[in-house]
Order: sequence, then structure tokens, then C-alpha cells
Amino acid sequence: MKALVFHGPGQRSWDTVPDPSIMAETDAIVRIDTATICGTDLHILKGDVPEVEPGTVLGHEAVGTVVETGKAVTTLQAGDRVLVSCITSCGRCRFCREGHYGLCTGGGGWILGHLIDGLQGELARVPFADTSVHKLAPEIADEQALFLADILPTAYEVGVLNGKVTPGDTVAIVGAGPIGLAAVMTAKLMTPGRIVALDVADARLEHARKVGADVTINNGETDALVEIMELTNGLGADVAIEAVGVPETFELCAEIVRPGGHVANVGVHGRPATLHLEKLWIKDVTITTGLVDTSTTPRLLELIANGRIDPTPFATHRFELAETEEAYETFADAATTNALKVVLSAEPAQLTAKEQTEALAGTAV
Ligand SMILES: NC(=O)c1ccc[n+]([C@@H]2O[C@H](COP(=O)([O-])OP(=O)(O)OC[C@H]3O[C@@H](n4cnc5c(N)ncnc54)[C@H](O)[C@@H]3O)[C@@H](O)[C@H]2O)c1
Ligand SMILES: [Zn+2]
Ligand SMILES: [Zn+2]
Repeated sequence: MKALVFHGPGQRSWDTVPDPSIMAETDAIVRIDTATICGTDLHILKGDVPEVEPGTVLGHEAVGTVVETGKAVTTLQAGDRVLVSCITSCGRCRFCREGHYGLCTGGGGWILGHLIDGLQGELARVPFADTSVHKLAPEIADEQALFLADILPTAYEVGVLNGKVTPGDTVAIVGAGPIGLAAVMTAKLMTPGRIVALDVADARLEHARKVGADVTINNGETDALVEIMELTNGLGADVAIEAVGVPETFELCAEIVRPGGHVANVGVHGRPATLHLEKLWIKDVTITTGLVDTSTTPRLLELIANGRIDPTPFATHRFELAETEEAYETFADAATTNALKVVLSAEPAQLTAKEQTEALAGTAV
């Protein structure tokens, strides 16, 4: 099959690699119908995630069709359309039992496109398939579900729910990339009083207004602290969500939050940030961090099915799977292309799932 392979920092290519096969009885093989690229894939390519071995197929967000299942898989069969989430869950360890799948110690967690081959290819092996994929109803289109693989549950769980957004709140979201925009979209579910989006790129702020931000602030041009204090009668934001991943934006969140408020960090940080306890100790502020668990994915799917949220506007560019390299270039050059999320689609299947299963039979357990 063809897949996007990481060959060390700065190097990737669309290669011919062996088809994946069932390695454990709980595995499924999924034909990738639609996939996307994450900012984290760019971090991997920069060499920021050194545990990714050269030779690994990248990608942790996809919608596909099951073509083969291991003997122990009981809830899936060939032909099922599934969302393959960025987080895999063993379903048995202490953390999975608590719904903290991101912390799985039984071999799951974030492994796809990280510790094992991922989803930017024609086929993928998905471990712990029963507890890791989500079956899709026929009325949900691939593109409607695709962004539930990562950005929506991340923004909702690590930003909105950890930040305890409550009706009437002023929510400040620092960073209006795909994660920050998904935080705008999912914060609206809580009926906040006002959503303020902050970014240094005007194009991103325009996207933020389109998905529902009430106020936007370019914090590269104006003093965000002054503006937030003016908006909130000198109190500060009830909730500040950090969606960038650099020290300055975390420190800004800690400054703009009101006494008794919440700072929810979502960004992945590569450098230490300063925690100004000399100012914060008296402010009763709660600071949370986290990796997405994807425990809210069924709830978000329900919201999509009922038309309450529509993540499809995040898709700005579409490519065929075979054009994944071009898609990476477009995605990485967002300042020029204005890309948010790129959608990679396999060509319409030439074979039925059953025929594919038969073709793959040689690799069955
Ligand atoms: N915690 C998790 O589970 C999890 C999961 C996925 C992604 N993430 C992380 O979330 C963060 C955001 O992801 P993304 O895909 O939206 O990233 P992105 O790079 O596409 O977007 C970041 C945005 O921040 C803006 N920005 C940069 N510097 C800024 C500053 N000083 N002030 C205000 N805005 C600034 C950029 O213009 C951009 O619009 C990343 O760090 C990513 O790795 C975390
Ligand atoms: Zn991701
Ligand atoms: Zn587990």
C-alpha cells in the first residue's frame, strides 16, 4: 500500500510499504477513506517528538471502513464505517476504566502515528478496535466526523470542560488555530456570555468570528490585558483557554483570568513557562493541563447528528490521499495558504469491503 512515511526530522515521503496485518486478536484493519493532518504531525517533522522512529507512517485522525477484524473483536465487522480517533483505549487499565483513555497504561493512549504506524495511508492497523473506534451512522458524512478524531474533543475536554465554562462566562481563548477555533465552537455549547478570541494573525481572527467569537483581539498589536479588563469591568476573564503552546500565551492567560477563574492549558509546550505565584497565590485561580481522552466523542457525534455543531467549515483544502505530500506543504504554509484543516480522501473504493477482506485473507491471523 501507499502511505506517508516519516524518515527523520524534515523528511517525509509517500512510499510503498507493506500492507498492515492483524498482529493481536483485538486489532482491526481499516481502509482509510478520509484523513487529515494535525499540527502535531508538523511538530514530529520538526523533530520535536523524538520517540517517533524513522519509518513510521504518520497520522492520527481518520474515517475509514473496517476490512478485517482479529478473532477477539466482537462489535465490529468488515464494512463498518468508523471514526478512528487519535486516542486508542485498552479498555481495561485503571485509567481507561475511569474514562482517561489518553493516559492508558495498557498499550493504548496516543500511539497511532506516534509509537506505531498511523492513519495517513491506504490501510491502517488499529489496536483495541472494539474500544477505540466509533461506528458512524450512514447520515454522518466523513467530513462531519473527521474533526472528532482530535481537534473537537481536545478543545472541548481540555479547554471547555477542564476550564469549567458556565452560562454567562466571559471566555478568552488565546490562539485561533484549529484547536482554538474548535474551543470557540464547543464553548458556545455552554452558553457563555461572551467569547473573546486572541491571536496575532488577523486571518485566524476572521475565522474565529465566523465560528462564533463575539470579540477578537490581535494581541500582537494591542495590549490584550488592557482590552480584557475593559471588557470585564476590571475583573478579568472567567475562563482563559491557552491554545498555542508557548510560554508567553500561558503567562498571558494567567494575567487575564479573574480571581477565582480557570486557566485551561491545551497547548503542547516545548519550553518552560513562568508561573507567577507571587501574583497568583491570592487569586484562587485553578490551572488545568491535559491530553485529550476522547471520552466525549460519542456526545460530540450526537451533537453533529442533531445539527447542533458543524465542524465542516474547518476543512479549507481537499486532496486525494495520493497527494498527501502536497497537502503537507499547503498545511505547513498556513500563513500563505490560510489553511486550517486539509482533507485527504481516498478515491472511491473499487472493491467492496467483502472483496477487500478476501484480498487481505492471506494476512489474517
Ligand atoms: N492537549 C492536547 O491534547 C492537544 C491535542 C492537540 C493539539 N494540541 C496543541 O494545541 C496547540 C494549538 O494547536 P493548533 O493545531 O490550533 O495550532 P496552530 O499552530 O495551527 O495554531 C496556533 C495559533 O496560535 C497563534 N499564535 C501564535 N503565537 C501567538 C501569540 N503569541 N499570541 C496569540 N496567538 C498566537 C497562531 O497565529 C495560530 O493561529 C498546539 O500547541 C498543539 O500541539 C494539544
Ligand atoms: Zn493531533
Ligand atoms: Zn487502558
